Amino acid sequence: MMVNIMINRLKVTFGAAALSLLAGTALAQTPDAELVQKGAYVARLGDCVACHTALHGTAYAGGLEIKSPIGTIYSTNITPDPTYGIGRYTYEEFDEAVRHGIRKDGSTLYPAMPYPSFSRMTKEDTRALYAYFMHGVQPVAQPDKQPEISWPMSMRWPLSIWRMMFSPSPKDFTPAPGTDPEVARGEYLVTGAGHCGACHTPRGFAMQEKALDASGGPDFLAGGAPIDNWVAPSLRNDPNVGLGRWSEDDIYLFLKSGRIDHSAVFGGMGDVVAWSTQYFTDDDLHAIAKYLKSLPPVPPSQAPYTYDATTANTLASGNFANIPGADTYVKECAICHRNDGGGVPRMFPPLAGNPVVVTDDPTSLVNVIAHGGVLPPSNWAPSAVAMPGYSKTLSAQQIADVVNFIRTSWGNKAQGTVSAADVAKLRDTGAPVSSAGWNSTSSGWLVFQPQPYGHGWTFAPQTHTGVDNAQ
Ligand code: HEC
Ligand code: HEC
Ligand code: HEC
Repeated sequence: MMVNIMINRLKVTFGAAALSLLAGTALAQTPDAELVQKGAYVARLGDCVACHTALHGTAYAGGLEIKSPIGTIYSTNITPDPTYGIGRYTYEEFDEAVRHGIRKDGSTLYPAMPYPSFSRMTKEDTRALYAYFMHGVQPVAQPDKQPEISWPMSMRWPLSIWRMMFSPSPKDFTPAPGTDPEVARGEYLVTGAGHCGACHTPRGFAMQEKALDASGGPDFLAGGAPIDNWVAPSLRNDPNVGLGRWSEDDIYLFLKSGRIDHSAVFGGMGDVVAWSTQYFTDDDLHAIAKYLKSLPPVPPSQAPYTYDATTANTLASGNFANIPGADTYVKECAICHRNDGGGVPRMFPPLAGNPVVVTDDPTSLVNVIAHGGVLPPSNWAPSAVAMPGYSKTLSAQQIADVVNFIRTSWGNKAQGTVSAADVAKLRDTGAPVSSAGWNSTSSGWLVFQPQPYGHGWTFAPQTHTGVDNAQ
């Protein structure tokens, strides 16, 4: 039905002549509605929309600015437009781009496109994905933006060497014999389409993920380097900096709704929940949770976190003039995050014992305090809750002090060594680039803009209330 409308629109847009040019590609064939629908789900699993949609742009028309250490690149138009998109890609060419990182003209894609993870997707899934992109997505005639990378880094041939060194040859995922089928499904989702390691696994000297699955050793999902000034913490089972104290149900609910009693999603993960994981089936979310809980802790676990009431007592006594950051905390933060660092369940995340607060790299903390954040609404938790940004109202020193304070209070045992200079650097790199459409105003308070897309949003509209159509 939807597909028929699409084809009619196509005819109107391009005329019969253009359509006949498409003969030979799948556009000219009769699509299988079930396959298209399955492909829409696989696209959710791969979060294709998050990268291939510019801020407030049309879904899948590309143009999202992605900054890399060597320059800026832009995601491409993957709508089935025959001139500007991938309308002329055959299935084989599409599969080659998605799983192997080689585009139609034979050159290698920048690995900002997570093909090292996608390489293990099954052909069954990429066939469905192809059917969806050819028949379930509306073509958009929007030209790609050229990368802004200067010579010699702009040459693409070195990328093919990178690809040969670091990206596995496409091979349908097969679990180790004897693996519980639910854990195996979880592994497939995490290491394949879900590309969780793209953010959660540390990168090596050439920006490659140090491990693409658990067989790659303890680096796998052990916590990544900052992306857009957000640090993705460890997803291993360490009780302090990882998911050791999270139950399977915690992980399930976090990925579905973005908020649980002891944590709230923020930064880059907000996009992941808002655009991708909230749409996963319950079975798939449980499979992911079970798989993550099966990973041993890394580093070998230290004594687990225990709450220490000293901080709360000191703050309550009013006697904290000699503790740097405590004064700012009481004036600016305690109203939401409370004196005991416990926050308010499902609204204001706790800071006491929160892995993201004690994770080695404090970049995210500085960033969320300087620029604020919005807990994105999801279909399962439709209200948006905001944290103000403090870059205008607090000095770099005050922000450094309050970061060090929360990293070392309530039993949190992280290094409290953030300096005013560290803060100034992060603060002045500007607000994080986010494709989801929430950003801050100059007053420091956030305005929530719930409508990240223009027209052209073609899939699962019935499940989109809450994020895309929230008013
Ligand atoms: C993390 C960001 C990211 C995600 C997620 C992502 N892509 Fe990409 N993709 C890119 C970027 C960036 C490029 C362009 C790279 C370049 O110019 O070398 C690209 C290129 C492509 C191309 C080549 C297109 C062309 O114009 O030649 C295809 C096809 C593609 N992506 C499909 C997908 C599909 C399908 C998904 C979801 C399963 C997906 N991408 C998910 C970032 C992403
Ligand atoms: C675009 C980068 C990115 C991708 C891709 C990504 N994450 Fe995250 N993730 C983050 C960031 C940044 C945080 C820290 C912010 C937060 O806790 O919300 C995080 C936090 C989390 C947390 C909470 C950890 C804690 O200790 O608070 C879980 C669980 C999680 N991610 C699971 C996943 C899973 C499962 C996937 C793959 C389906 C995934 N992430 C993909 C960036 C990412
Ligand atoms: C108006 C209530 C409010 C105030 C005031 C506030 N926060 Fe927050 N804070 C939030 C909300 C809501 C989030 C979740 C934001 C998101 O999802 O992007 C959050 C998130 C955080 C996080 C990330 C933790 C996580 O797991 O999501 C840190 C760290 C943090 N706040 C520290 C502070 C500090 C330090 C101050 C004072 C300088 C402060 N906050 C003031 C509401 C508040």
